[in-house]
Amino acid sequence: MTDIVGRYDDRNKLNDLTGKEWLKSTKSFFLSKKCIDDKPAFNHPAPFLIKDIERMISLFTKERMTVLDPFMGSGTTTLASYNLNRKSIGIDLSKEYKQLALKRFKQKGIIGSKDFKYIVGDSLKEIPKLNAVDYIITSPPYHNILKNNSNGLRKDSSVKGYRSGSRIGVKYYSDKQNDLGNQKSYNDFLLLFQKIMEQAFNKLRSNKYCSIVISNFTVDKKEICVQADVIKLLCDIGFEFVGTIILLQDNKPLYPFGYPYSFKINHMHQNIINFKKTEK
Ligand SMILES: C[S@@+](CC[C@H](N)C(=O)[O-])C[C@H]1O[C@@H](n2cnc3c(N)ncnc32)[C@H](O)[C@@H]1O
Repeated sequence: MTDIVGRYDDRNKLNDLTGKEWLKSTKSFFLSKKCIDDKPAFNHPAPFLIKDIERMISLFTKERMTVLDPFMGSGTTTLASYNLNRKSIGIDLSKEYKQLALKRFKQKGIIGSKDFKYIVGDSLKEIPKLNAVDYIITSPPYHNILKNNSNGLRKDSSVKGYRSGSRIGVKYYSDKQNDLGNQKSYNDFLLLFQKIMEQAFNKLRSNKYCSIVISNFTVDKKEICVQADVIKLLCDIGFEFVGTIILLQDNKPLYPFGYPYSFKINHMHQNIINFKKTEK
């Protein structure tokens, strides 16, 4: 987006984009973009790509604002925030993922900065201790899909690229009871996710935004419209749904799941589901 020019409007309280940049960011899709700094994250089963998250952060914040990620994993949200001169707070249950994140931060020379905090703990308990934040971007565990029959391991050596390797050799997140990925039923998963997002809602400043990155997936081999459920549960909390941006991941391998008997979809995108905490 650096090659775009245009004029900045002083009435803009949302971000630092020019009019032209803002307009481009309102597109309902974009193509996922990798960079070299994504690679060290692939000891985590499901990391974001830094450039994808930078794009969202530059749309929904100004410099020096604070971004919260309640499921921080390998630390991507902090790297993206730091690259854009934003502050960040991340929470994750796993101290191993914090170590992985710190390794990534060290490689970028950002250890010791006061601009980010990585808390190891349960978001349900840790979010209430935080100060107010300006934007939330996060991706929860996708229920228990990393524990499916394929163990989350779908090795395909014929396909090259960072994305295809991200789940190879790593299993699920943890055995902890409060891990969202360990909830017995899909409904339990939704209920716990809602409780955590309720806490996040309380910390988000008025008229600020929240983005949930999640794809549809199968539960007991049946395709679920996860997006619809996420929108309902966040709107029940008080968020206003403001639209979904499709993050196209055209570099994922294709699997012949139902072939040659029935149609089974290959998910090649994530939904970035956006919400506003509208002032009442
Ligand atoms: C989809 S991953 C997030 C990956 C992250 N976006 C990245 O770039 O690495 C979900 C994360 O949620 C964490 N998690 C699960 N339940 C949690 C909870 N109750 N509180 C905090 N973190 C939790 C898992 O350990 C896992 O790292």
